[in-house]
Amino acid sequence: AHQWRGLLAEYREHLPFSDTDTLLTLGEGGTPLVHSPSLSAQVGAEVHIKVEGMNPTGSFKDRGMVSAMSRALSDGAKSVVCASTGNTSASAAAYATRAGLTCAVLLPKGKIAAGKLAQAVVHGARLIQVDGNFDDCLEIARKLDAAFPVELVNSVNPYRLQGQKTAAFEVCDALEDAPDIHILPVGNAGNISAYWMGYQEYRDKGISTRTPAMWGFQAEGAAPFVAGRPIPNPETIATAIRIGAPASWALASAARDDSGGLIDAVSDEQILDAQAILAGEVGIFVEPASAAGVAGLLQQAERGAVPRGARIAITVTGNGLKDIDTALSRADLTPTVIPVDIDAAAEAMGL
Ligand code: F0G
Repeated sequence: AHQWRGLLAEYREHLPFSDTDTLLTLGEGGTPLVHSPSLSAQVGAEVHIKVEGMNPTGSFKDRGMVSAMSRALSDGAKSVVCASTGNTSASAAAYATRAGLTCAVLLPKGKIAAGKLAQAVVHGARLIQVDGNFDDCLEIARKLDAAFPVELVNSVNPYRLQGQKTAAFEVCDALEDAPDIHILPVGNAGNISAYWMGYQEYRDKGISTRTPAMWGFQAEGAAPFVAGRPIPNPETIATAIRIGAPASWALASAARDDSGGLIDAVSDEQILDAQAILAGEVGIFVEPASAAGVAGLLQQAERGAVPRGARIAITVTGNGLKDIDTALSRADLTPTVIPVDIDAAAEAMGL
């Protein structure tokens, strides 16, 4: 039986590695594309969900990280650094372990979901909390990269986007062509740029016949693309995308414009509602930021802007288990306590 070999091996002919490079893997990529009858019915289209929380560290970051870390290792780097809202650092910590490199992560103090912090800790990264936001962390990381012998593995490293573009390949492979629309959350804006690169490459090579419109969604309090300029103090419950000065500004703007797409904003309430719909109606538990795309799809549907019958792929970027505090704060946690007794159990179940 065929075992998935990791995305660098599976998509090698589309990636800029040579025969002498060391290609790492923790089994990333090859994530499921799940058709959702309920979302499809709700918006009058054909909705497929790309479940990126199935990656080794629970987010899409593993696609870019396996690529950037393989480059760093092959180039003889000893140590890597990144700024992060949590998922990039979790992934960097895991892949640095695999590569045998030391890893330092710069995190905005107090704004990282507990599961993500735990990941950086257990994988042995040096955890540095900055009394500022993600944008401040990234500025420091870029300056460290310029001044010290340390490799930057944020998405400004072009190998990150190279790895992440493979998600677009997988969607095309699964659907046997590109969808009409691809939807995803936007924070630092690397992922929308990477998907657009992947879709264009598959079309240019004749593997697919067309490219989708790229629809990106930001959190209302952290929506620089909607404002048309950086936001100095971004705020949202979706801490993963609490970013005011996206690094891939030009690439993401081109993805939006050249694809005939859009980048819009959704409120925190819409994000949490979409997270609840994904968990309670679709059966997929995602972290809040990951639900921004679904929130955006529902918003567009309410506005009558979703073309009837369109084939839509929507990326949910990270696993819900990373941020259980936010999820539990919305749930009714009053448990039913019973004695060790079958009749009491049956009664509690309403049988
Ligand atoms: N969804 C999740 C779960 C994320 O962690 C991120 C980014 C995004 C969406 C946005 O993707 O930045 O490519 O536009 N997280 C980064 C991090 C910033 O540090 O983990 P993007």
